[in-house]
Amino acid sequence: MAPPTHFELNTGAKIPAVGLGTWRSEPGQVRQAVSFALKNGYTHIDAALIYGNEHEVGQGIKDSGIPRENIFITSKLWNTHQTNVAKGLQKTLDALGTDYLDLYLIHWPVRLVPNETSALLPVNPDGSRSVDRSWDQSETWRQMEEVYKAGKVKAIGVANWSIPYLEELKNKWTVVPAVNQVELHPFLPQHALKEWCDKNGILLEAYSPLGSEGAPLMSDPAIQEIAKKNNVSPATVLISYHVNRVSVVLPKSISENRIVSNGQVIDISREDMDLLNGLAAQGKAKRINTPLFGWDLGFNDWYKQ
Ligand SMILES: NC(=O)c1ccc[n+]([C@@H]2O[C@H](COP(=O)([O-])OP(=O)(O)OC[C@H]3O[C@@H](n4cnc5c(N)ncnc54)[C@H](OP(=O)(O)O)[C@@H]3O)[C@@H](O)[C@H]2O)c1
Repeated sequence: MAPPTHFELNTGAKIPAVGLGTWRSEPGQVRQAVSFALKNGYTHIDAALIYGNEHEVGQGIKDSGIPRENIFITSKLWNTHQTNVAKGLQKTLDALGTDYLDLYLIHWPVRLVPNETSALLPVNPDGSRSVDRSWDQSETWRQMEEVYKAGKVKAIGVANWSIPYLEELKNKWTVVPAVNQVELHPFLPQHALKEWCDKNGILLEAYSPLGSEGAPLMSDPAIQEIAKKNNVSPATVLISYHVNRVSVVLPKSISENRIVSNGQVIDISREDMDLLNGLAAQGKAKRINTPLFGWDLGFNDWYKQ
């Protein structure tokens, strides 16, 4: 059976199963990559204000000539904008050159207080990140619900939220997050989070599916073995794993060949899915993306799930 090309959000909207990641895609390269991807079968772009390239992502969207309504665009509220979601959103809309998003996410469950050191990555005098530990994330979510109800974004969600954070938000939400975007791959499958989100109608999205910069997970012998068995590249296995598991997947590339090949998803047998699902428990558990803030805030306790 062919793997699904789309999933359904709890809003009823369809979301393409594979989206192009844009983190660390340099402004000089991302315009071409986005335009190329959209002209070659992609319909889903994952952006964020903190990536510093939304203007070029927007130019790439425009260059592609694909009508806006045929593209699913996601962006993320940066931590320093948590007290004013509408303002953070407007910056993103202006940069991307669009008047709505298909999905808007709280990038991290952390508020950073901007100061004279930086508007986006401010630090305290001792060099630590200027985290506002008293800030209530449910207030950020309330403002997310406002921009959603105002029609500026067609769906809202979160990123990097672990179960305790979601449990707490659940007491306050009136709109259930459509998505939780987290680091996800066979070495960080987050089975408990997947189960919790499935139960609550929240779709997981997999970031860093190849292991981020340099795609290190591709060289793992177990992944290579499954790739060989299926006569595909290790990247195809790592990407297809999510679609077969019913999660969106967001591989990043600026290379035209890789953009095309990363868009190919295969059906993975039950036996191979069981193998992939079990790798972390067999001693391969690994988290790659570690932010410079919030180790004491609990949302990084993913190995424990
Ligand atoms: N919400 C969050 O906090 C968060 C955090 C991290 C990432 N994300 C999102 O998720 C996206 C993906 O994650 P990521 O960028 O960390 O990493 P990734 O997609 O796992 O890996 C990207 C790296 O793999 C290389 N690559 C891509 N396809 C390849 C292939 N077929 N063969 C060999 N190498 C390949 C890329 O190089 P080339 O570009 O040179 O091909 C790049 O170095 C991000 O771009 C971003 O949109 C979100």
